[in-house]
Amino acid sequence: MRDFTPDLTPNLTPNPSPKGEGSKQAGERPDLTPDPSPTPLRSGGHGPAGRGSQHLHTGLFLPVSMGPRPNLTRNDNSAGRWWPARCLQAADTLPAITMHFFVTGAAGFIGSNLVDRLLALGHPVTGYDDFSTGQARFLEPAAACPNFRLVRGDTLDLPALTAAMQGAGFVFHLAANADVRFGTQHPRKDLEQNTLATFNVLEAMRANGVGRLAFASTGSIYGEPWVFPTPEAAPFPVQTSLYGASKLAGEGLIQAYCAGFGFQGYIFRFVSILGERYTHGHVFDFYRQLRQNPAELRVLGDGQQRKSYLYVQDCLDAMLLAIERAAEPVNIFNLGTGEYCQVNDSIGWITGALGLRPRLSYTGGERGWIGDSPFIFLDTTKIRALGWAPKLTIREAVLRTLAYLQAEPWVLEQRA
Ligand SMILES: NC(=O)c1ccc[n+]([C@@H]2O[C@H](COP(=O)([O-])OP(=O)(O)OC[C@H]3O[C@@H](n4cnc5c(N)ncnc54)[C@H](O)[C@@H]3O)[C@@H](O)[C@H]2O)c1
Repeated sequence: MRDFTPDLTPNLTPNPSPKGEGSKQAGERPDLTPDPSPTPLRSGGHGPAGRGSQHLHTGLFLPVSMGPRPNLTRNDNSAGRWWPARCLQAADTLPAITMHFFVTGAAGFIGSNLVDRLLALGHPVTGYDDFSTGQARFLEPAAACPNFRLVRGDTLDLPALTAAMQGAGFVFHLAANADVRFGTQHPRKDLEQNTLATFNVLEAMRANGVGRLAFASTGSIYGEPWVFPTPEAAPFPVQTSLYGASKLAGEGLIQAYCAGFGFQGYIFRFVSILGERYTHGHVFDFYRQLRQNPAELRVLGDGQQRKSYLYVQDCLDAMLLAIERAAEPVNIFNLGTGEYCQVNDSIGWITGALGLRPRLSYTGGERGWIGDSPFIFLDTTKIRALGWAPKLTIREAVLRTLAYLQAEPWVLEQRA
């Protein structure tokens, strides 16, 4: 693990030293309501008074993933929501060392699960989200935690983003247009939401002297690769989606900031993620269709596309382990399971669990939409070498996602 010298001076000029977290004072409770006009975070605005939580400066040892995965429990008294059981107890279980995390996209599927995990581990968290696809209900457990503060804001609003990030020590950048399918309908959207927003995050970090960043990239950056399973170093000359291209550009910016300003970057190329708070993707689409008409299911493509999926808690395990153990200036990891399935396999699991035998109508072709990769299978040797392994198979993750959507039907109404 690299050991950087903490430096609290805002880093506004090229400098090879990553910068540190601002000083903290215990004693102020965070504002738990979304703030429509973001104001600078108060230094020390996290953590209950008198607990004496110690904050680390950028780059020092960061035991963020210490301890077991929080026990996700179904709370039958709360409309079937999954609550991280340790979250509400976090104030009593603060670790000796904490880090103030800034999470963009905090109200999203993956972001809200990450927020809960970080809070359960005892870390102060500032969430930043414009709620374009995020859900306030996903942040209800976090809002009950004194270590959490939410800022409602747009990553394209650089002054607001910079103000909100004040005092942070590590940034998880998850906010994005996360839907790969509709790029050709709005070509500017991916550029703005995924590339320019990433540039803004990097600039806000530079202004605040924050030097460490984890970025939610995607296996879509490989376009249509020639090597399977696809390792991080594989050639990928064929780009097919505006989403993948915009994320790849974001990766490039991060690498350039690492080289130019001494940042440390973690780039995670996810396969499709499944699990609690899932709001978009094939399980969502299929289940919503089948609720409306159990007799028929429309399938994009020929159903033989080979895809990989990963359970969201396994994804969080991998990211937190990587930022703790990987110490290069730029750390790139594929995240996925060691298997893939056909879309038709997943249809069988879903319809089997629902006890349905719908007529399947395929739109045809080996791609479901422009930019769809007919085969996604990532080589995860690199992240496994750090000691990580997924706990759920693809089938288990699909079925768990279906169970979540059955328990939380309101989610189905939230996305077009
Ligand atoms: N879900 C997957 O299968 C998957 C796969 C690969 C990569 N990713 C990446 O992971 C990240 C999270 O994806 P997700 O599935 O949780 O998506 P999501 O849509 O549920 O979450 C994205 C969040 O970002 C917020 N957001 C979007 N634009 C914003 C803006 N301009 N300013 C502030 N907030 C904004 C949304 O409101 C939402 O809460 C994304 O970067 C996505 O590209 C996701």
